[in-house]
Amino acid sequence: MTEKKFAVRDTTAIGTTGKNAGAPRPPSVEDACGDALVSFKNVSLTYHDKTGETLALDGLNFDVRRGELLGVVGPSGCGKTTVLSIISSIITPSSGEVLIDGAPPAERRDECGYMLQRDELFPWLTISQNVLLGAKIKKMKDRREYAYALLDKYGLGDFRDRYPSQLSGGMRQRVALIRTLATSPELLLLDEPFGALDFQTRLNVVEDVHSIIKNEKKTAVFVTHDISEAISMCDRIIILSARPSKVKKIVDLSPIGELSPLTRRESPLFQKYSHDIWENLQNKKEKRL
Ligand SMILES: Nc1ncnc2c1ncn2[C@@H]1O[C@H](COP(=O)(O)OP(=O)(O)O)[C@@H](O)[C@H]1O
Ligand SMILES: [Mg+2]
Repeated sequence: MTEKKFAVRDTTAIGTTGKNAGAPRPPSVEDACGDALVSFKNVSLTYHDKTGETLALDGLNFDVRRGELLGVVGPSGCGKTTVLSIISSIITPSSGEVLIDGAPPAERRDECGYMLQRDELFPWLTISQNVLLGAKIKKMKDRREYAYALLDKYGLGDFRDRYPSQLSGGMRQRVALIRTLATSPELLLLDEPFGALDFQTRLNVVEDVHSIIKNEKKTAVFVTHDISEAISMCDRIIILSARPSKVKKIVDLSPIGELSPLTRRESPLFQKYSHDIWENLQNKKEKRL
């Protein structure tokens, strides 16, 4: 089966259900202010296990601004997944404070949608059943219309009754993202979501995922060890040091922010950012990402 490219019908977020489906959403005050949706204030995290204690995060301070796609890069094992686990309230910081929209993560669980490296689609369920699964688990009603609208909008409407094995890797990642969006989370957490895809597919999927996130006006935290991928997708990038992890630098990509991921790769600034981030990732103990 050949990959089906989608053409986005409009540039506004679609309404969730009923008569609002398809209606443009007026910009909220928060959209206009561009304030912080998530803030990490001096956050440290120590893991305790049989072998002893591991200080993973050491006093992290940063914000995730509303509507931005924030990249998190750092050496393997520095605590990137730990950051996402704290935001989604899977684990609680040992010290410091995390606020999502002014409240602790445990009170904002429903605001977060998690997308993992493997697409995690169930092979025995159809695409529509997979996409509605999260909503079913959360006992959310009236999600079908919205989920189907997303599948249509992003070129997967004709594949609703197919099974994951009948779709390409790129299409499956799109389905996985739509499943995450189907519960209407405010915040998307993406943990190395393209790691299992080959290079060519990744380039296209990055383009699609970037366009879907921006089009649906979501805030997202995107963890990756791939510098190029982070530069092509994100609005800002946080560079974490090797464990115990600190914020080494925050890179603002607004000069190329209006470009699509593929066009960014052709920008002269792309190399400059790559070099800058690579330099910052060099570490006496750990030379490789
Ligand atoms: N449940 C756990 N118990 C003990 N140590 C852990 C646990 N989870 C992660 N770690 C350790 O914490 C550090 C950060 O892990 P992780 O957040 O998964 O890093 P990354 O995603 O950047 O590769 C690693 O050294 C890892 O071994
Ligand atoms: Mg990880």
